[in-house]
Amino acid sequence: MGLNNHLSKISNVLVIGCGGAGLRAAVAVKEAGLDVCILGKRPKTDAHTVLAAGGINAALGNLDSEDSWEQHFIDTYLEGYSLGDPLKIEIMAKEAPLLVKEIDDWGANLAKLKNGKLDQRFFGAHKYRRTCYSGDYTGLSILKTLLSKAEELKIPIFDSQYVTELLIRDEICFGAMSFNIFTSERTVYFADAVILCTGGHTRIWKKSSSRKNENTGDGYYLGIKAGCALIDMEMMQFHPSGMLFPEEIAGTLVTEAVRGEGGKLFNNKGERFMEKYDKKRMELSTRDKVAFANYKEILEGRGTKNGGVYLDISHKSKEFIIEKLPSIYRQFLDAQMLDISKEPMEVAPTAHYSMGGILVNPNDLSTSVEGLFAAGEVAGGLHGANRLGGNSLAEILIFGKRAGVTSAEYSKNIKYQLRSSSVVSDAHENINKFIKSGDELVRPLQNQLRSIMWEYCGVTKDENKLKEGLNKIIDLKNKLNYLDVRIDKYNCDDLVQTFDFQSSLISAEATILSAIERNESRGAHQRSDFRDTKKSCEFNCLVKFNSQSNQLKVIKKPLKPLNEKLQKLVLKSRRVINIKNKLLE
Ligand code: FUM
Repeated sequence: MGLNNHLSKISNVLVIGCGGAGLRAAVAVKEAGLDVCILGKRPKTDAHTVLAAGGINAALGNLDSEDSWEQHFIDTYLEGYSLGDPLKIEIMAKEAPLLVKEIDDWGANLAKLKNGKLDQRFFGAHKYRRTCYSGDYTGLSILKTLLSKAEELKIPIFDSQYVTELLIRDEICFGAMSFNIFTSERTVYFADAVILCTGGHTRIWKKSSSRKNENTGDGYYLGIKAGCALIDMEMMQFHPSGMLFPEEIAGTLVTEAVRGEGGKLFNNKGERFMEKYDKKRMELSTRDKVAFANYKEILEGRGTKNGGVYLDISHKSKEFIIEKLPSIYRQFLDAQMLDISKEPMEVAPTAHYSMGGILVNPNDLSTSVEGLFAAGEVAGGLHGANRLGGNSLAEILIFGKRAGVTSAEYSKNIKYQLRSSSVVSDAHENINKFIKSGDELVRPLQNQLRSIMWEYCGVTKDENKLKEGLNKIIDLKNKLNYLDVRIDKYNCDDLVQTFDFQSSLISAEATILSAIERNESRGAHQRSDFRDTKKSCEFNCLVKFNSQSNQLKVIKKPLKPLNEKLQKLVLKSRRVINIKNKLLE
């Protein structure tokens, strides 16, 4: 096959990403009676969804009957420091009970109470027990359930396809270009509608709960180049507890369920330090606060000799731990020969979740590009400045389904689809241009990027560091043109990593530009040069790509107001947002 040859495939809807959001979207398209196919670059049984371990939220009130969708709304909105889109949060809070029961009926095997109802555990900063779970492998249960459903509905999943570009004609999306990650054979997928479900960009930090080659920001690259805006990219969630060693897996998640089930945090003096940071909620405070507390204890010399803090669940019986936290029990035995029923774990913050992402309409998940939709972690707007644990699995089911339903409606309603062979040729050229010999190898550059993000745009930031980091990223960007990329019919790893790197660079730049713009500390965005949360910073940061200047541009967008009913709800709530958020003192 010559370089510009390709296979062609057609479906009504094309889903990019085979994690939970993508699968749920595809199921909805198929149930609407249309053709759909799913593309992914990683094995479908091992999507990043499997790492959302501890649970999925729904205000079912099975243990705490006072719980309601309204309280779920309040917790999510206020703990997100009011940056979230109120409508998106309302939809999630209202629809979670139905979708969680549905996934359980489909086979997710969530834990049950003696009365047969779903069990619910505490997760950080939820007023009530709201988190349904399967041990500490909830994401895996959900993923397997959705895979079986997709299989039952005969939905084709091609999980070795790398999407390099969305095909856009007259600002309307008509498909995507991809290549096979083993053979480099190219395929053009034509579709009336495309749904991006490609996850976030957490892998571009040195310590990350994502594995190699996932969450490299691919969806942000595809979306912003197609004409979408990215929202709140500065809002990177650092999970309080990532593993410290061995080095190859540093950052791997230690689920919040450990704290939900009674785990306690200690420093090297044996102090239960959360007393200083949130005396009332202790280890079940919000993620931003617990992550920051861990970070500060370590920074100020009260950490462990390996550079972490202690997380201890050894006061619980081995039987309890094996029942509630089976994966974590094994994870520490496998990686460190540590029996967590006898000794404490050592943990430190790790980049865990991209709270910003592609700007979407919360009702139909459409983007500003006609025919293009986005759902799951790749889309922004739900979590504001701090995501509550357990909301991401709810998000992928609810908004994945909605994106499937609305993209199917869109496909049914369009009269014809315009394509463009010159757009397809350009997409070929955008792959071909990388395949050449050069002076730079991509892997070391990816590692440099990860170190830069950790050092200059990590748990705390300041303007000088951010600007220095940005300059270093611009230097790396220039090296993209000098890569040595070799492919043959049995291997095209260089090409895969090059596209990953290209996406990571634009995601990193958008993140730093937004972080520079937000001259305050709010939730996960901690600026040591601006310690307070400011009224004047009540905006969302949008980043757009200007194809004329080839530059990214940041725009401040006023927050969406609460409607009257939601405003009353929030006012009635006894919660107080700590406007003087002096975490750094
Ligand atoms: O800690 C955890 O189990 C993560 C859950 C989540 O990010 O929602």
